[in-house]
Amino acid sequence: MVPPETENTIIDAASFVPSRIPSKAALHEPWKLTEEQRQRYRQLAIQARAAKAAGLDITSDENLHPINIPKLSTKLLMPQREDTGISALSLFSGGGGLDLGFSRIGINNVAAFEIMDDAADTIRVACPEMKVYGGEAGDVREVDWSPWRGSVDILHGGPPCQPFSHAGRQRGSLDPRDMWPEFVRAVLKIRPAVFVGENVPALGEAKFAEYVNQTILAPLSKGYHIHVVQLRAQDFGVPQIRRRIFFIGFRNKRIHGKYRPPTPTHAWNDNEALESGIVKCMGVREALGLRESGFDDLSPTIRSTLNGPRNTTSILNSVSARNRFEKLQIWPNGVAASREKAQKFPSPNGHFRLSVPDVALIQGFPDDWPFSGATYKVLGQIGNAVPPPLAYNVAASIVAALGRIK
Ligand SMILES: C[S@@+](CC[C@H](N)C(=O)[O-])C[C@H]1O[C@@H](n2cnc3c(N)ncnc32)[C@H](O)[C@@H]1O
Repeated sequence: MVPPETENTIIDAASFVPSRIPSKAALHEPWKLTEEQRQRYRQLAIQARAAKAAGLDITSDENLHPINIPKLSTKLLMPQREDTGISALSLFSGGGGLDLGFSRIGINNVAAFEIMDDAADTIRVACPEMKVYGGEAGDVREVDWSPWRGSVDILHGGPPCQPFSHAGRQRGSLDPRDMWPEFVRAVLKIRPAVFVGENVPALGEAKFAEYVNQTILAPLSKGYHIHVVQLRAQDFGVPQIRRRIFFIGFRNKRIHGKYRPPTPTHAWNDNEALESGIVKCMGVREALGLRESGFDDLSPTIRSTLNGPRNTTSILNSVSARNRFEKLQIWPNGVAASREKAQKFPSPNGHFRLSVPDVALIQGFPDDWPFSGATYKVLGQIGNAVPPPLAYNVAASIVAALGRIK
């Protein structure tokens, strides 16, 4: 099901019915639904429940796809490097995509600030060495950063992207979820040697040029020399179309001069791979270990299930994403909690039903990353994350520039 905002539906304001979905989630936006949309969602929920019950009732294995054994090892995309002695503080940590990439390159993430309890729990379990400030204690708006001044080498974080994302309303600074000013406040107070701020590529578009100049570059340029870098997940072996923009600032001008953005380690295109002598990025079917269907491709950009009019277990982002999943013979709705559960719940059209570990893999997380929370909340953490192999390569480029000098 495609969320209403991607259908370009024009809704008459007078027919709005306030959302009754109760949620305290930081990213939840209580969308206004028309009565017609509300009915449609209700019907879909009823149908989904019936389909699930029928699926779980299966007595013969005839129509079940085998449980997939992924071919892609995301850990091999980011081999664990030795300790660099470089420390980092993580803001807006989410489910830990940036943290994982930084940690595998040998950077010590010392603490995390994250407002969403489930995401904070994920980091607590995944990174026991980190001090995790979660929920209210993790709300960066409330933190006095003075005690942190000079205490870490790197400050990294991806403020919420909803104010800028094409999948949202792109209200920028008018969106109360805009946390870039908070990121800037933290950097200026803590004064790390390096900062890394990450977001959706839409933030690099002309529409937000004034915002970026005024809110991010102007205040941070007073103490930092900044590179703005756009990177694609597929160039680092992640089988998904996903671009991200990074603002990487160095206090030291010489180190800024030495900095080189990461160069691709993988290529999706055969010729590109051959010409550059780099590894071919797997398609999503191959990465997930699905049988050959005669067609493979990168996965469409997966969405965060915490965005949009309601929380769902669909990772569909757009109509073009739906078409691409169709061709891939992958069913992107009703993502199951586990591979075993996905197998027992055949999709309506027989296409492969995804599970949480499959979606995690499409985002570059290893199978054993201990996401915490209900399925839609886990999918939210996954969909919001920087693919860890991408973060790993960004971290590697910074370590190279620092030459391990603190
Ligand atoms: C785009 S996600 C970050 C994803 C993360 N960089 C990763 O790679 O997994 C943004 C995160 O900011 C959190 N957040 C939003 N408002 C916050 C606030 N005021 N204080 C702390 N965290 C906040 C959200 O809960 C969300 O997990």
